[in-house]
Formats: sequence, structure tokens, C-alpha cells
Amino acid sequence: MKIMEDVSVVSQEKVAFQTHLLRLSAGRISREARLGQFLMVQVRDGTDPLLRRPFSFHRIDAEQGVVEILYRVVGRGTWWLSQCDSGARLRIIGPLGNGFQLPQCGPAPVVAVAGGIGIAPMMQLLEKLAQWLAPSGKTREIHLFYGARTAEEFIPGKAFDTLGITVHWSTDDGSRGHEGFVTRLLEDTMRREKIKPCVVYSCGPLAMQYHVARWALENGVPSQLSLESLMACGLGACLGCALPAVNPAAPQEEHYLHVCKDGPVFKAEMIQWHKIQTHPATPPIFLFS
Ligand SMILES: Cc1cc2nc3c(=O)[nH]c(=O)nc-3n(C[C@H](O)[C@H](O)[C@H](O)COP(=O)(O)OP(=O)(O)OC[C@H]3O[C@@H](n4cnc5c(N)ncnc54)[C@H](O)[C@@H]3O)c2cc1C
Ligand code: FES
Repeated sequence: MKIMEDVSVVSQEKVAFQTHLLRLSAGRISREARLGQFLMVQVRDGTDPLLRRPFSFHRIDAEQGVVEILYRVVGRGTWWLSQCDSGARLRIIGPLGNGFQLPQCGPAPVVAVAGGIGIAPMMQLLEKLAQWLAPSGKTREIHLFYGARTAEEFIPGKAFDTLGITVHWSTDDGSRGHEGFVTRLLEDTMRREKIKPCVVYSCGPLAMQYHVARWALENGVPSQLSLESLMACGLGACLGCALPAVNPAAPQEEHYLHVCKDGPVFKAEMIQWHKIQTHPATPPIFLFS
């Protein structure tokens, strides 16, 4: 059920480079939302910016009636959002999209890959997975591969310490952990330690997702990839968030899935990855961030 709700800002804090954590008092939406779904935020009254902006649920607390968004300031809309103080009013629509499924396999190992702000929908999922594996004593078999351009983009590491999971850090500039792409670290680690995960969850730039998808398909690992695209409505009306997809019934035909209503979580085999990088729905940030 999609709900339009006028909500107030509980708090806003800067947690990393250009990265803010926003807590919203959103009683109705918090009761309906699931991990991996998203919401559309009207960041400001009036027509500038005109379009609502999509954000994943970072944390859903139905008991407190609070939802959290973890976001990076990249442009006009997110800049306005970063200016909201406690008590500010915002109009949001959610929950939208399909969300993550907890593993049907297992009980472990489980792999999660987060690129930059792609950590946003992952944290509460990791907490749920850790709770799921706690009775078997296997929380260390949850492997998070967390990559960023540089160390100051990471959200604080203490968030992971209490979970007891294994975190593999990587940065493009080598300022923390592996120097280079997080997907290379993923591939090398899985090969070296002979790990065959029962599922891989992933969220991050599309170029990263392409490599995660390739690795998952080559190794027969079931995947749940949270993909982004430019979004005008978020409601399935404008068709602007189309991604080239595989039509299992007619593989030769052109077929599209829409991130806002068919996703944002897709299996690797659902997407035509070779077409995606030149597709107009792909924002440049996917390729270069
Ligand atoms: C389902 C979904 C969930 C998302 N979850 C989060 C989240 O949890 N945290 C977060 O920080 N961001 C998230 N995003 C991306 C976020 O919506 C954009 O960063 C935001 O809309 C940019 O708005 P802006 O006005 O600040 O930037 P603009 O001025 O509109 O654009 C600035 C730059 O950001 C790029 N951009 C704009 N829209 C998107 C988009 N939808 N996806 C990727 N790049 C975009 C533009 O191409 C441009 O390079 C999500 C996007 C989708 C589709
Ligand atoms: S954003 Fe309009 S249809 Fe998906």
C-alpha cells in the first residue's frame, strides 16, 4: 500500500563525508515498510526542485514510528534536504518497490556488497541476518564487502562491531583496506577462502553491480541486487526508470523492467547487463562514482 504522509524531521546529523542521517517521524509508513523498499521525498515546498527524490529506507522502526534515510549530498535536492532541522515538515510517499527477501538457503555463508552510499539499505538487513545466524554461532560467516572512493566516505565502523560480522574494507585510493575496486576484493576473497555463499545482496553504483552480477552468475550464487535509475514519479506512471531486461518467454525481444515497480531489487539474471551502460536511464553517477 502506497501512503502519502506529512512527516516531521526528528533529527539530522552528518555521519561521514557529504553523508547525512535523517530521522523522520512517519508512523503510518513505518508500519508498512520492508527492508529494501524506498520512499519518495518532496524535499521542499513549491516547484524547485519539482520532482520528489527517491531514497532507500536505511532503518525502519515501526514501534517508534520512525524511519531513517542515509543519503549523500550530490545535487540540489539533497542539498535542500541537508538544510532541514528538527521539526521541519516534509511530504513523503512510500513504501515503494519490492524490497529484499531473507535467505531461503543457508544458514550461511551470506555475502553483502555495498558501494559508497549503497550501504544505506544494507545496515538493517545485516542486523536481521546477524540475528538469524546468532543461534548457530555463524555471524562471522556474514561477509560485508564495503567499498568507497576514500576512507572518509565510510559510515562509522562501530556500527558493524556489535553485529559480529566480517567486514572487508576497500577504497579506490587505498586509505582503508584493499586498494582498488570492492568487486575485485570480493572475487579474490571468495576464491582464496573457497566460500560459496548461499546468497549475495548488493547495492551501489551500476558499474559495481555489473561486476557483482557477473560474479554471481558465473558462480551460481543467487543474488538480490538493489538497482538505481533516474526516477521522475517513483509510482510506475512515467516509465522513466526502465532498465533493459531479459524476457524469459521471448529472449530475442526487447523487454524492460521498471526500477520503481518491478524493483529496486532484481536477480542478476533478470537484467541485460551488456545494454545497460549505454541506456539513457542510466545516470552518469553510476559510471563514474
Ligand atoms: C530506488 C532508489 C533508492 C535510492 N536510495 C538512496 C539512498 O538511500 N541514499 C542516497 O544518497 N541516494 C539514494 N538514491 C539516489 C538519490 O535518489 C539521488 O542521489 C538524488 O535523487 C539526487 O538528487 P539531487 O537533487 O541532490 O541531485 P540532482 O541535482 O538531481 O543530480 C545530481 C547528480 O546525482 C545524479 N542522480 C540524480 N538522481 C539519481 C538517482 N535516482 N540515482 C542515482 N543518481 C542520481 C545525477 O545524475 C547527477 O549526477 C536512490 C535512488 C533510487 C532510484
Ligand atoms: S519512476 Fe516513473 S515509472 Fe518508475
